[in-house]
Amino acid sequence: MPYLPLRSLPPRPAEGLTSAWLDRLAERLADTTGDVAARRAVICRETLAELAYPEYAKNWEEAVEDEAIPLGTRLSLAALDPRNVTLEPEYYSDCDDARFQPVKPLLWLWYSFDRLPIGGQNVDLGVRLRRLLAPYIFKRVGKNFKAFQHVEFTFGYNLEIGDDVVVHRHVLLDDRGGIRLGNKVSISDYANIYSHTHSIVEQADVTNALTILDDGVRVTYHATVLAGVHVNEQGMVGAVAVATKDVRPYHVYVGIPAKSVRVKPNAPEPATILRTSDQRVPR
Ligand SMILES: CC(C)(COP(=O)(O)OP(=O)(O)OC[C@H]1O[C@@H](n2cnc3c(N)ncnc32)[C@H](O)[C@@H]1OP(=O)(O)O)[C@@H](O)C(=O)NCCC(=O)NCCS
Repeated sequence: MPYLPLRSLPPRPAEGLTSAWLDRLAERLADTTGDVAARRAVICRETLAELAYPEYAKNWEEAVEDEAIPLGTRLSLAALDPRNVTLEPEYYSDCDDARFQPVKPLLWLWYSFDRLPIGGQNVDLGVRLRRLLAPYIFKRVGKNFKAFQHVEFTFGYNLEIGDDVVVHRHVLLDDRGGIRLGNKVSISDYANIYSHTHSIVEQADVTNALTILDDGVRVTYHATVLAGVHVNEQGMVGAVAVATKDVRPYHVYVGIPAKSVRVKPNAPEPATILRTSDQRVPR
């Protein structure tokens, strides 16, 4: 296969605007005094209003009450404030409000930005915005975090992320029971990482289980990792696979349920040992 590293692009003509906008947001987020959830709700609403409804950005409160403005427009304006919307995790009994409410405005800003004309596939701005929000949402995030558009989380506060992690478009990181991502983890388009499951008899019987992806793990396109699975160092979950059990280090697992089809050629000796249930011998 040809070696095709990402190339650098020249700065955009409006680079100054991008930096100024991000710097202003960074400054506002850095203030963690007082009622953080309320402060962030206002930051979220004002940021979105400027981007989506600039004509109402300076008089949002009056506009929401203004009966001369169409009802749907007032409703949309109201929804820029996260206190006027509910997110699915808020309905969960195990949602820790003390942790979730300060995170919720930033999740709403993240998700809403992705749906604006300026957001979504706007890679440079999107990656920089998400990198700015990440430390205030997640339990831990390392350097060079890179998230593309339409990534979703459950609580956010139960997610740990190492250095140099890349999360591609439309990935679901269900951190309800906790997700721990090591360094240099890559999660490809449309993959799902779960950390909760339901009883097959009673849906409200929920089991949370920490899901771990160790250093160098790659979960590839449309694959799913179920709750409590440990994908060991340099393990790989192939396209559309469902990892129902632990993935051994340096092994490549494919299929449903995922099984090892090979060991990476750079694996140290112990990782090459296959269990008897494995169907293939590594090449
Ligand atoms: C996991 C993957 C990398 C394995 O590639 P590989 O090591 O070259 O494996 P091979 O293509 O030699 O396949 C080995 C066997 O597994 C099967 N297989 C490979 N990928 C499979 C998959 N995703 N699902 C089911 N079976 C698969 C092959 O058909 C082959 O079976 P066979 O021996 O009966 O012919 C690859 O299948 C994959 O999923 N690639 C897409 C994702 C990707 O490259 N992501 C990188 C971005 S992070």
